[in-house]
Amino acid sequence: MKNIVVLVSGNGTNLQAIIDACESTIENAKVSAVFSNKESAFALERAKKVGAEAAFLDPKLSETREAFDEALMRRIDAHEPDLVVLAGYMRILSGDFVRHYMGRMLNIHPSLLPKYPGLHTHQRAIDNCDEHHGTTIHFVTEKLDGGPIVLQAKVPVFDDDTVETLEQRIQTQEHQIYPLVVKWFVEERLTMVDGKACLDGNELGPQGHASN
Ligand code: GAR
Repeated sequence: MKNIVVLVSGNGTNLQAIIDACESTIENAKVSAVFSNKESAFALERAKKVGAEAAFLDPKLSETREAFDEALMRRIDAHEPDLVVLAGYMRILSGDFVRHYMGRMLNIHPSLLPKYPGLHTHQRAIDNCDEHHGTTIHFVTEKLDGGPIVLQAKVPVFDDDTVETLEQRIQTQEHQIYPLVVKWFVEERLTMVDGKACLDGNELGPQGHASN
């Protein structure tokens, strides 16, 4: 059985999609623990419901980012995770943390990276009158939202879109592609080699599997 630890800050719809997939399409894997830096994150309720450890870790109790991440690492490593999944985890990670999980930590970011790293991606796509917007799953490296891309999903942007309508369109895609990428990882088809994402031993292109 492979152990997945998920870090969250909010609603947890991506977490739910991964939990559901572990009960259906992904064999031999389970979400063992979910940690949040926000006490009110609904994702924690979703985790409790399936018997995973669910805990809020308060960043205010640590003096530095490094100290918080070290405490978080101890909690994560107690589960001997094969994979760490960032699913709407809205905190910058320290270098030591990233290096510790290098090659076994994935993130989902709501834009077609390398476009729009950082925050407010939906608003930026609307403001720039983009025809398309999307979401990206990538391995986490020390460059913020800059690790090797595994898979992207693209959606149209309509003239009357709001942040909410666009976000909803994107999240529908996220719930399809995040479980798929987790499945690839669990099946040992997806790896990170020399800073590149590889699927079935083949190096993926700069925009991941979607561009091939
Ligand atoms: C997702 O849309 C994800 O792309 C985004 O947060 C949302 C979490 O939703 N991630 C980031 O912005 C990371 N920088 P969820 O809690 O319902 O899964």
